[in-house]
Amino acid sequence: MTIEVRPLGDDAWQQAFTMMELSFGETWPQDAAEVEQARFEPDRSIGAFVGDTMAGHAAIYSFTMTVPGPRALDVAGVSLVGVLPTHRRRGVLTALMRHQLHDLHESGREPVAVLTASEPAIYGRYGYGCATQWAYAEINRAKRAMRPVPGADEVTVRYADPEKSLDVCAGVREAIVPTRPGYFRHNEPWRRGEVADPESERGGASALRCVLAEREGEVTGFAYYRSKSNWEPGGPNGTTVVQRVHATDTASYAALWQFLADQDLMAKVTHRRLSLDDPLLTWLRDSRAAMVTVRDGMWARLVDVGRALSERRYTTPVDLVLEVRDDLCPWNAGRWHLAGDESGASCGRVDREPDLVLEVADLGAAYFGRPVLAALGAAGVAEERTPGSLTAATRAFTSDALPLLDTPF
Ligand SMILES: CC(C)(COP(=O)(O)OP(=O)(O)OC[C@H]1O[C@@H](n2cnc3c(N)ncnc32)[C@H](O)[C@@H]1OP(=O)(O)O)[C@@H](O)C(=O)NCCC(=O)NCCS
Repeated sequence: MTIEVRPLGDDAWQQAFTMMELSFGETWPQDAAEVEQARFEPDRSIGAFVGDTMAGHAAIYSFTMTVPGPRALDVAGVSLVGVLPTHRRRGVLTALMRHQLHDLHESGREPVAVLTASEPAIYGRYGYGCATQWAYAEINRAKRAMRPVPGADEVTVRYADPEKSLDVCAGVREAIVPTRPGYFRHNEPWRRGEVADPESERGGASALRCVLAEREGEVTGFAYYRSKSNWEPGGPNGTTVVQRVHATDTASYAALWQFLADQDLMAKVTHRRLSLDDPLLTWLRDSRAAMVTVRDGMWARLVDVGRALSERRYTTPVDLVLEVRDDLCPWNAGRWHLAGDESGASCGRVDREPDLVLEVADLGAAYFGRPVLAALGAAGVAEERTPGSLTAATRAFTSDALPLLDTPF
């Protein structure tokens, strides 16, 4: 089967839309599709053609994302990936992935690609590693007691119209973007998408609610949530479904969570995308009040190892030769000398014996600051040639705050 991958023309959105419906086995509700269409970048959309039939599709969003440093790095957000059920397991996805990565390299655009996976078994073979995790937390209201946080009592929480307060909320989020690797800046369509609130995505819950945290008249945080009531014979058993909580200071963040966790008629509060080091999990006096399920969040792929590794910063000084294995992107394969610290970094080709030997996907897993390298070594996946180099690399790559993707795409 001959597969030709090429950019799509004027009707790129319509082609992508049709492919998503067929490949995901869904009817895409109009209100949700409109939100996606506003974010779509038609000139970064590609199709895989078998004869006249578009058998597969993939797109890229242009993101500027926080990487350890903190630094703002342009990354390619791969999305809208699907292959027609009639053409599966014949290499269509592989052709799309190869084209995208080779094209990014040849054009010299983003040195890192990121995505979220419908199924985690798919993308490792293309050099993507699991770079962030999501904790799905379900907090029992009866056990919500929290440790006191100085200053939280001075913060007031009030309702605001999500649309009218969009700018002020976006301003709060913009201020916290540098605080965690994995946060990306929202441009206008992504900002608007935050409050678009398509009815088809409410899951039977209320419209989106917005509350603002304020201190002395100044907005210091906000939360988006929905309420899902549930009247049972034994009593009210509703859920507060939290979408987002952000604040520019700890006390405001605590005040917002105290409000969300204590809603009458709601027996529990849920959040799908919490970080495992979120302060909420420390504040809860009963550590089992939050039942947490952890899963993969964002996957990262170093498109250009040298550029990617020199663009981020390192928590402790690092001076190592890495031997990288990368079959799909041969320009990455081989030995790289990485030298860096908190203030700068360089990474260039070298012809010296390596300290560490690892797959490009494992570098992707560590890139945003997740402390995974030691575990990969213990699992026999990353090979330590110079004793102590795994510990040194783990410390240097690990960020103070765990990386998190707070905006799924
Ligand atoms: C996932 C999907 C894109 C794969 O497309 P495809 O053209 O069948 O993939 P390929 O033929 O190029 O497969 C390449 C390899 O990935 C494997 N693979 C493909 N889909 C997989 C899956 N869902 N789980 C595990 N492995 C998978 C293939 O077995 C093959 O393995 P091999 O290299 O060892 O032979 C396609 O099945 C699809 O559209 N699924 C539904 C929508 C979806 O999940 N999209 C991804 C969104 S993130």
